[in-house]
Amino acid sequence: MDHFLYRNGQLHAEDVPLAEIAASVGTPVYVYSAATLLRHYRLYDEALAGMPHHVCFAMKALSNLAVVKLLGDAGAGADVVSEGEYRRARAAGIPGDRIVFSGVGKTRAEMRVALEGGIRQFNVESEPEMDALNAVALSLGTVAPITVRVNPDVDARTHAKIATGKSENKFGIPISRARAVYAHAAGLPGLKVVGIDVHIGSQLTELEPFESAYQKVAALALALRADGHEISRLDLGGGLGIPYARSNVAPPLPSDYGALIRRTVGDLGCEIEIEPGRLIAGNAGILLTRVIYDKAGEGRDFLIVDAAMNDLIRPAMYDAHHDIVPVIEPDPDLDPRAYDVVGPVCETGDTFARGRMLPPLAPGDLVAFRSAGAYGAVMASEYNSRPLVPEVLVQGDRFAVIRRRPTFDEMLARDTIPEWL
Ligand code: LLP
Repeated sequence: MDHFLYRNGQLHAEDVPLAEIAASVGTPVYVYSAATLLRHYRLYDEALAGMPHHVCFAMKALSNLAVVKLLGDAGAGADVVSEGEYRRARAAGIPGDRIVFSGVGKTRAEMRVALEGGIRQFNVESEPEMDALNAVALSLGTVAPITVRVNPDVDARTHAKIATGKSENKFGIPISRARAVYAHAAGLPGLKVVGIDVHIGSQLTELEPFESAYQKVAALALALRADGHEISRLDLGGGLGIPYARSNVAPPLPSDYGALIRRTVGDLGCEIEIEPGRLIAGNAGILLTRVIYDKAGEGRDFLIVDAAMNDLIRPAMYDAHHDIVPVIEPDPDLDPRAYDVVGPVCETGDTFARGRMLPPLAPGDLVAFRSAGAYGAVMASEYNSRPLVPEVLVQGDRFAVIRRRPTFDEMLARDTIPEWL
């Protein structure tokens, strides 16, 4: 459930008409609903009630400071994968002891910043990384808490570009080598082993892959404890999928996922950490865009909108589906038409949808790409020298620009022409 609904014939974000935001901020623009973000965070929090747990929002999905502060104030921690995300989490007020640091290629500089600033744990992904972290921690006279990310060799049954839990993927250490790797960690005085980490992929629409992975983690936890390691935390990653098309069967709910966690690892007495991104942010955001032209092609109609692949790359990159809805509620008596919905960027990949059935639309009309809150604005670029898309947060009847649209002068001012040219 989200808070983008028609009221009096107009699509709203909570109590604010989207047309009002378009008039004030311009288009394209991302619009987020605070109530939806908080609702999704709380669903996870409730799903894990009764077990000691931390919901660490995967900031890669949506890292705007205002959004991170909203979630952090509600109790969320953060899963970060770069110094930039770490700095954002701290700037948004999330304390270091609620931040986990993931990622396959952390640099020593990033490790230093997190150790100095405070960190709950590093999720380490290789022995070389372990050695580097050990050296950095010792140089700072401290000890780094770690989990080791294991690769359980489980098929997440999701898009190949976002599956991470098979042995051929670059992530984690093979679970078959886990005991040897933990023994290596135990010999490094700058590290303190606190648990196990696993993340098998994103946009999972079934629970079975999680179940197989978590069962393997539970067995490993017992084996590692028998070897003398402290396993007091399990970081179970993110990955639960969302319904992108209203017509689709809905994926399992956080409550189903919570029951699965309880069933597979609940009796180990560990603190449970999860790293959801998409489910919290995805359906809490839309990309609002305006139709520029309706162009008749050979046997097809192109709807050219002012958002493009640089603003929302998911359709071009993953063939992702986003529902497209007009901001004026369509008249049910009008027959829908098939449109190819495209942006102004000069490549054919700049296509949001092909043959999409929509009510008749005309230049100037506003439409919203739904489910665009996660991996939308964060993956935007200035390709074709289109200024970075702005972001707006709505709460109740108020809204605020939480990242403004850069001016063309600002965009140009970032480049420098060498004096010798
Ligand atoms: N934890 C780790 C270690 C991850 O790598 C990810 C996502 C998450 C948590 C959060 O997963 P989520 O709950 O959001 O599924 N750009 C792609 C998605 C990439 C996901 C990468 N890792 C897309 O637009 O579909």
